[in-house]
Amino acid sequence: MKKFFDPIKLQKWSNEQRLAGKKIALVPTMGALHDGHISLIKAAKKKGADEIIVSIFVNPVQFGPNEDYDAYPRTEKEDAKKCSEAGATAIFFPTPQNMYLENHSVYVNEEILSSGFCGAKRPGHFRGVCTVVAKLFNITHPHIAVFGQKDFQQAAVICQMVRDLNFDTKIIIAPIVREKSGLAMSSRNNYLSPEEREKALCLSKSLQCAKTIIAEKKEISWKSLKTKISAIIEKAGLKVDYVEAANAKTLTPLMKVKKGDVILLAAFCGKTRLIDNAIM
Ligand code: PAF
Repeated sequence: MKKFFDPIKLQKWSNEQRLAGKKIALVPTMGALHDGHISLIKAAKKKGADEIIVSIFVNPVQFGPNEDYDAYPRTEKEDAKKCSEAGATAIFFPTPQNMYLENHSVYVNEEILSSGFCGAKRPGHFRGVCTVVAKLFNITHPHIAVFGQKDFQQAAVICQMVRDLNFDTKIIIAPIVREKSGLAMSSRNNYLSPEEREKALCLSKSLQCAKTIIAEKKEISWKSLKTKISAIIEKAGLKVDYVEAANAKTLTPLMKVKKGDVILLAAFCGKTRLIDNAIM
């Protein structure tokens, strides 16, 4: 597995691979890799990628001033080992200094899909995500790029960016990977104490409960379902940040929920903000 630190060197290598007829996949991550990330590498392999580039970069631009940029887990050695074992052929560890040169002044803004949910709660977050993903696309020129459904809104925003800015990259969305307990895998689970981990199960349980109700009733008023979901989360001792239902394609908020719609939520478990979602 090759290791790159310099965007220019990676760009040169990636261009050479493309010219040699190789199919290039990019798996963008912020590191602290878990089985969810490994599933993205495997999805790239399944799509027939010859070169699988995993980027590991805790992107400062997508964190708000009071968020966990400094505390975000950084486990570079373990990450490199996991990437190599999972079949990645290159790993990219840039620094904030070589990703954002002095006086960096160009950002990418998606203006509709990023306005609600996490975008409303984390102003500037998707501007940071779109900017870094656009840069990673320009550095690696991937044929495909793989993202997780766990960040449902992020995936939708990136698909929109690719469409609107004519990126020549196919976006693959891989399903959420959950622990046996149901907890969606996340690098931020590293922050949780054993008791918090237990409490956090309410998130997947609440979504499972919503799924069961919708399977029975076919269509239900969002107000009453939202009350049920919020009650499950609050009873476990978490603080709801948002719970919303949306059309899974357009992310338009809904008054009535039915099969195929998505429920998105974020909640604080102690100091840790967790997100989860499920398509009904
Ligand atoms: O999902 C993530 O880990 C990040 O938001 C991403 C896509 C790697 C951009 O920094």
